Amino acid sequence: MLKAWTDGAETGFIDRLRERGTTFGYLRPVEAERAVSMTMPVRIQSWDTAFGLAPIFEMNLPEGILRERIRLAFAKATGSFDEFDLLSVVGRSQVGRIRYTGAEEALDEEVPFQSVDEILESRRGGELYRYLLERFATSSGISGVQPKVLVRDEVDAIALTGAGRRVSPSYRGATHIVKFWEPNEFPQLAANEYFCLKVAERCGLDVPRYRLSDDGMALVLDRFDLRPGGSYRGFEDFCVLNARRTDEKYRGSYETSVLKRLQQFVSPSSQADDSESLFTLIALNCALRNGDAHLKNFGICYDDVLGEARLAPVYDLVTTTVYMPRDSMALTLNGTTRWPGARELQRFGETRAFSTPSRIRQILQRVSDALADVTPRLNDYAKDHSAFAPIAKQMREQWEVGRETSLAAG
Ligand SMILES: Nc1ncnc2c1ncn2[C@@H]1O[C@H](COP(=O)(O)OP(=O)(O)OP(=O)(O)O)[C@@H](O)[C@H]1O
Ligand SMILES: [Mg+2]
Repeated sequence: MLKAWTDGAETGFIDRLRERGTTFGYLRPVEAERAVSMTMPVRIQSWDTAFGLAPIFEMNLPEGILRERIRLAFAKATGSFDEFDLLSVVGRSQVGRIRYTGAEEALDEEVPFQSVDEILESRRGGELYRYLLERFATSSGISGVQPKVLVRDEVDAIALTGAGRRVSPSYRGATHIVKFWEPNEFPQLAANEYFCLKVAERCGLDVPRYRLSDDGMALVLDRFDLRPGGSYRGFEDFCVLNARRTDEKYRGSYETSVLKRLQQFVSPSSQADDSESLFTLIALNCALRNGDAHLKNFGICYDDVLGEARLAPVYDLVTTTVYMPRDSMALTLNGTTRWPGARELQRFGETRAFSTPSRIRQILQRVSDALADVTPRLNDYAKDHSAFAPIAKQMREQWEVGRETSLAAG
């Protein structure tokens, strides 16, 4: 049995149920604001899941190499290793405001200290990736297929939140995300993502601080769910909001599973702004040729599960067609995953983001201008980093195709 905590307080227990399922029950009594998800309000009846974990509990389970590594380390003892076991390993350090411990355990969120400067300056050279994975795998309750860890650099976090001095309580949990890449699979992925995020920033979208290490091997992101005092905001991805499992992240449409779902969860006063931001992000993904904009690559954030939710900052933007030339969209638009034309995007914005034709035209233009703005920066970086040059060339070509087909009216 596992105990779930929200905002540092006990909220309920998760246990296995029958052959393959799990059940979650809230403590009685427990305040409504302890709810684990906007989709799972406090109630007496338990929340049962026939297979695996409820989407909110499954949300941050590592995928890819991080999951495999943890599985290998922990499966030895028990012989088998399922999602419930994985949650028990990475549960105390997670993206968002929920934590998990053993049923009798107290909460200890402490993550080892790791200097972000050391990562950015590539002080450990090629050994860094393996070193960090070794040290931080079990405190990395974070989803995604690419190799990554959660680390804690308190000093850096204080600087970035503008606190200016040591604040109390001191940071104990993770403050940054470090993403790596496999040279044989996705060469220069960190730099690719770095420049895509730069375009997003130029579009006026909310992007957390992102930095590329000197050797281009690591992308360091500030956690956008971290508050200045060291506590964490609520975060839910669109798999959770659609009641889907992680393995269903490529199932759905931008119309219903993304835009309409956002409008259902954000507060009425933010609906117009957030719909427009989300439309901008979807148009940007088309222009960047990011074929991996699935349900886990969008999210919402909130301070109070019963209060106002907003579209989360932007993350995980990559020109995927550099690695997979035939890649298409992760979800459907107008019933197809084909990259849309500008007219299709225009209609989508007008009907689904409820914006005026001229506003939508402006947004498409803004995305186009942002690509044009960032391209010279991409070129400059490629000049100084020869390993990135071939990827940069392909990115430029892909952005040009994206701009011509998905943004330019005509
Ligand atoms: N800056 C951030 N602050 C807090 N949480 C974040 C941040 N960036 C990403 N996340 C969370 O971490 C998860 C994994 O990050 P990301 O999507 O960048 O990894 P990935 O391995 O590239 O994903 P994918 O499997 O989609 O390729 C996201 O789905 C989101 O839940
Ligand atoms: Mg992702």
